[in-house]
Amino acid sequence: EVVDARGQILLPGFVDMHTHLREPGREDTETIESGSAAAALGGYTAVFAMANTDPVADSVVVTDHVWRRGQEVGLVDVHPVGAITVGLKGKQLAEMATMAAGIGRVKMFSDDGHCVDDPLIMRRALEYSSSLGVLIAQHAEEPRLTVGAVAHEGPTAARLGLAGWPRAAEESIVARDALLARDAGARVHICHASTAGTVELMKWARGQGISITAEVTPHHLLLDDSRLETYDAINKVNPPLREKSDVDALRKGLADGVIDCVATDHAPHAEQDKCCEFSIARPGMLGLETALSIVVDTMVTPGLLDWRGVARVMSERPAEIVGLADQGRPIEVGEIANLTLVDANSSWTVSGKKLASVAHNTPFEDMTFSSKVTTTVLRGRITVRDGVVANRAGE
Ligand code: NCD
Ligand code: ZN
Ligand code: ZN
Ligand code: ZN
Repeated sequence: EVVDARGQILLPGFVDMHTHLREPGREDTETIESGSAAAALGGYTAVFAMANTDPVADSVVVTDHVWRRGQEVGLVDVHPVGAITVGLKGKQLAEMATMAAGIGRVKMFSDDGHCVDDPLIMRRALEYSSSLGVLIAQHAEEPRLTVGAVAHEGPTAARLGLAGWPRAAEESIVARDALLARDAGARVHICHASTAGTVELMKWARGQGISITAEVTPHHLLLDDSRLETYDAINKVNPPLREKSDVDALRKGLADGVIDCVATDHAPHAEQDKCCEFSIARPGMLGLETALSIVVDTMVTPGLLDWRGVARVMSERPAEIVGLADQGRPIEVGEIANLTLVDANSSWTVSGKKLASVAHNTPFEDMTFSSKVTTTVLRGRITVRDGVVANRAGE
């Protein structure tokens, strides 16, 4: 197969450390198949499917299903993320060793969607993870500081009368887990960093020699809490959209490498769970198909990152952090490639209905971006051509 790549940017296939695919349990909002299509269209060749499914991915039965189904669909490697505990907010550690040894070879365990607020459980999880050589990814929310929270506890939320989620709820867990990781000799990864204070804590922790990494989402790089003015729950997300000063600090942190990478936190939700009152709506937004375009317009266009940097934050660093040997590599002659082509002069306008996800909850509706993924190649096989899904496994 021949691809005309003239005038386009060639990048290693993207790796998303943070995707919610909702299978098993909420296939009315996303399946491994629909989510794989969204991922491939977004330029991804590997994604990590978060554990807050129903049933929870706290056993090898679920994690192996996720991996197998992803391989069957054949558009992107769907790596299962295991839950840290048995059940949401469980008191017992999940059998990480069994999941790590399964067909799905779980490399990362997380409490995303069910924050482990008990420091003793997190300490034991970090000790266990370091003996197994797997990664713990932390959702970073102190739930006792965010009861009833729907928005960032800033001036905008206060004026609008929305219950707030203070920066301290995130930062106290980042600091706590940095110290626990230090003592356990473990590595910890911070999911969806959203505050200027988290960027400062990352600098501090690295200065102490602590093995800590962090991701930022495209929506936290682009949107701020002024979006809450409309009370539209499409903008409700964990952690919440914050102030412009936080957005600026996150962009700078990503440019400087203090924040390692971009992860989507792609979170499909049913229409009835988003088109309702802010206080009862589910948190989360779609992210896979818009991520690259947002990174370019928030980071490359203003001169904060060059294309080499895009390869680093979208592909190389996430592959390194989670230990994927076959992804995130510079493309070399003779190599079976995972790669993505980007048209940097292809303005397009987002329409939720046209996205490949089953759910349509994008906060970027009607926004225009300057760059678009045109082609994705998974191990030498074209999965997306001219912006259209091609070559599912078996075709
Ligand atoms: C996530 C989801 O929908 O699963 N939502 C979100 O707003 N990021 C879970 C979570 O991280 O709270
Ligand atoms: Zn989360
Ligand atoms: Zn998440
Ligand atoms: Zn709809």
